[in-house]
Amino acid sequence: MDKFMIWGGERLRGEVEISACKNAVLPILAAALLGETPSVINKAPWLKDVDTMMLILQAMGVTARRSFEGDITIDPTTLQSWEAPYELVRKMRSSIYVLGALLGKLGKALVSLPGGCVIGPRPIDLHIKGLTQLGATIEKRHGYIIAEAKQLRGARVFLGGPFGSSVGATVNVMLAAVKAEDVTVIESAACEPDVADVALFLNKMGAKITGAGTPTVTIEGIKELHGTQHEVIPDRIEAGTFMIAAAATGGDISLLGADPRHLEAVIVKLREAGVEVSEEEGTIRVRSTAARTPTDLTTLAYPGFPTDLQAQFMALMTVTPGVSRVVEKIYPDRFMHVGELARLGANITMDSNSALIRGGTSLSGAPVMASDLRASATLIIAGLVAEGETLIHRVYHIDRGYVDIENKLAKLGAKIRRLKSN
Ligand code: EPZ
Repeated sequence: MDKFMIWGGERLRGEVEISACKNAVLPILAAALLGETPSVINKAPWLKDVDTMMLILQAMGVTARRSFEGDITIDPTTLQSWEAPYELVRKMRSSIYVLGALLGKLGKALVSLPGGCVIGPRPIDLHIKGLTQLGATIEKRHGYIIAEAKQLRGARVFLGGPFGSSVGATVNVMLAAVKAEDVTVIESAACEPDVADVALFLNKMGAKITGAGTPTVTIEGIKELHGTQHEVIPDRIEAGTFMIAAAATGGDISLLGADPRHLEAVIVKLREAGVEVSEEEGTIRVRSTAARTPTDLTTLAYPGFPTDLQAQFMALMTVTPGVSRVVEKIYPDRFMHVGELARLGANITMDSNSALIRGGTSLSGAPVMASDLRASATLIIAGLVAEGETLIHRVYHIDRGYVDIENKLAKLGAKIRRLKSN
């Protein structure tokens, strides 16, 4: 497995291009199944998770190809099977999106149950509840979800759960409802820009969805969808990660292609932490200042501060003098990065889903282990600040969700190298 070696102490400076959003492109690839003709996703991000979704579609007989420029063509006319096998689903939880898409397309699906996850329990009860309310019969047997519906029928579906709305359940119900009879109304829908982008893609295919990006989404079922062309929104989590990295290293960077409207909570928190953030002619500029201040944070569903940036923000607070508190409200166990940050010298005390960070300790490089995608990004940020060498093991996690991160960081002045495994 590849590793990253980082020589800390460099301030990030310059411009970085933000890639297309992982968490939007994955459901969009699954949504392309619903068309009667091929769809093209322009400039899809070069990510392992995207490769996995293409493999899942290919395993079902779908023709999924990527051009040299990164455009992906999905031809659903060759679809032969309605099974998403364990060997692929276990690699990536968002494989669950083929459940809604297959139900919408064929009225049946056999999808391996996604298993446990290092960021904590990730149930799919809301997905199942929503799809059942549309008329699907769903059974779990031998580790698989077996779903069937003679005719899906629109319904009122409430998708609020114990931790708020669910991105995945909202998308899965949308995917199944676009071709259902009558009208579906999703209440307590997830408002993430990723959900709105999937709805935009479906509408380009001929679907009739209104309200996506708000808590109430209305879907008027139609008989047939056609293929379309789409460029996915920029990745707000990648953008936020670079913004936090710039702040932590005392840097000054400009993000090209990011959408500041998707980053409001992040911008507010960074400003609260004494970081200068400005928007200039389509770019977001982030300048660290000497007056950084400790800042409390609670993660919430969009438009709140994203759980996917909680760990990275904690790295920033670790190198900011003073005491700050981070509370995780989406995944109460998402703190695997804390132990590894401690290996670099962080002083963090945990109490249930809340972390107390005594910041301003000087970090020193050490070997550390990445546990998941966002934890890996956090260790990179900490390594960029730490004195000496930080060796990050298991960087395959980061390849799932960050495009070419070492080269993007190197262009900003970071000293980072990928050590290839044999
Ligand atoms: C999406 O996961 C993202 N993944 C996650 O990003 C992100 O952390 C998460 O949304 C929250 O923003 C993709 O979009 C591919 P949820 P998802 O359903 O859809 C609970 C990353 O690093 N819940 O919105 O699986 C759940 O346990 C990844 O890129 C239920 O209780 O998340 C959580 O507490 C990690 N029952 C909350 O809802 C359900 O049926 C939100 O989960 C479903 C979810």
